Amino acid sequence: MPKYIIERNGPLKGEVEISGSKNAVLPIMAASILTSKKCIITEIPKLRDVDVMCQLLKSVGAEVHIDYIKKEISITCDTVSELEAPYELVKQMRASNLIMGPLLARTGKVKIAMPGGCAIGARPIDLHLKGFQALGAEIELEHGYVEARADRLVGDKIYLDFPSVGATENIMMCAVLSEGTTTIENAAEEPEIVDLANFLNSIGGKIKGAGTDTIKIEGVSERELTGTRYTIIPDRIETGTFMVAAAVTRGDLIIKNAIADHVKPVIAKLKECGVEITESDGNIRVTAYNEIKATDIKTLPYPGFPTDMQAQFMTLLTSVNGTSIIIETVFENRYMHIGELNRMGANIKIEGRSAVVSGKQPLEGAQVTATDLRAGAALVLAGLIAEGATEISDIYHIERGYSEFVEKLSKVGAKIKKIDD
Ligand code: EPZ
Repeated sequence: MPKYIIERNGPLKGEVEISGSKNAVLPIMAASILTSKKCIITEIPKLRDVDVMCQLLKSVGAEVHIDYIKKEISITCDTVSELEAPYELVKQMRASNLIMGPLLARTGKVKIAMPGGCAIGARPIDLHLKGFQALGAEIELEHGYVEARADRLVGDKIYLDFPSVGATENIMMCAVLSEGTTTIENAAEEPEIVDLANFLNSIGGKIKGAGTDTIKIEGVSERELTGTRYTIIPDRIETGTFMVAAAVTRGDLIIKNAIADHVKPVIAKLKECGVEITESDGNIRVTAYNEIKATDIKTLPYPGFPTDMQAQFMTLLTSVNGTSIIIETVFENRYMHIGELNRMGANIKIEGRSAVVSGKQPLEGAQVTATDLRAGAALVLAGLIAEGATEISDIYHIERGYSEFVEKLSKVGAKIKKIDD
């Protein structure tokens, strides 16, 4: 089983280059199903999840060529066959459900294994299905599969009970080929939603309002859609993770190819703790030589503090002066990393939906397990400051979302290696 071995090696120093966004490239790859013309997507990250999405696209008949050297993927869906997304693929990656909207719009039918829950929560897709029904689809659930069928898709006004990122993306993609106008209210506002809307408009979609809570989609016919060459945005969560890595090791990192506007809440919170942040043309410099103090965090949908940065920030807060309170409001079970951090000597207590993090807790190296993508990242950050070696297993979680993580960390002074015992 592959593992990471990490040893404390002092402050991280130097430059790190951020890769393309996992949570932008996945819906954009799925969206290429809508058109029969060739789509070329550039600045793609080298991730397991991108490989799984490639397999899914090939299973619906798409021609897919990926070139990780050029960081480019070419996808052509001139014909789309019936898809029954198998459970084995869907359970590897929840984002498999993002092919539902485009497939339903292109073929009028999609059958996909219900994505089960995962470590961070039940992760239902009721809002996705409610959106498809509003556009005219019939939904059937049986034997762990969900099937959506529609002879005709007609635009409608859809209110999301929660600003779900995936539901906003799936409904937006389906609405591109639905007749008339669709309005999504209480829509998610994440930068990845804007990137997807920009991609859809680049192939001939007519979308306005992405990045606000109300998105309007004018339906077009499939023959109006074209191909495109599209560059995705950098990964704001990878950006935030390296910012926290600089802070937790009291280092000095220049983070290149980063969009500061996408990580405003992380910048604000780090500054509140006493970390110095300077931004200049696409780079963010993080310097943490001063005393870092406690702060409180409440995760919220964008533009609030991102849930995907909660675990990494918790690791930082175990080492600062004072006690911090973290409230996770987006997922119901996103504290799996607490048990592992406490085994490394942290003192974190769960009280309802809050976590109380005592500061100035010296961490000790231990054998720990990654339970999900961001929990794994938090354990890597803990290993950078723990006394003695830390061994992290189940690192496949981490490699789903961090491209060349070991190489990037080593380049700025981390003592980390991947072993396969
Ligand atoms: C996306 O997941 C991201 N994944 C997640 O990133 C991220 O944590 C999440 O958005 C929130 O920002 C991708 O973009 C591939 P949601 P998604 O639908 O779309 C509830 C990472 O670490 N909900 O916004 O699945 C749901 O249970 C991953 O990169 C419903 O109740 O998130 C959750 O509590 C982890 N019904 C909340 O909404 C639904 O139909 C947010 O979920 C859909 C969601």
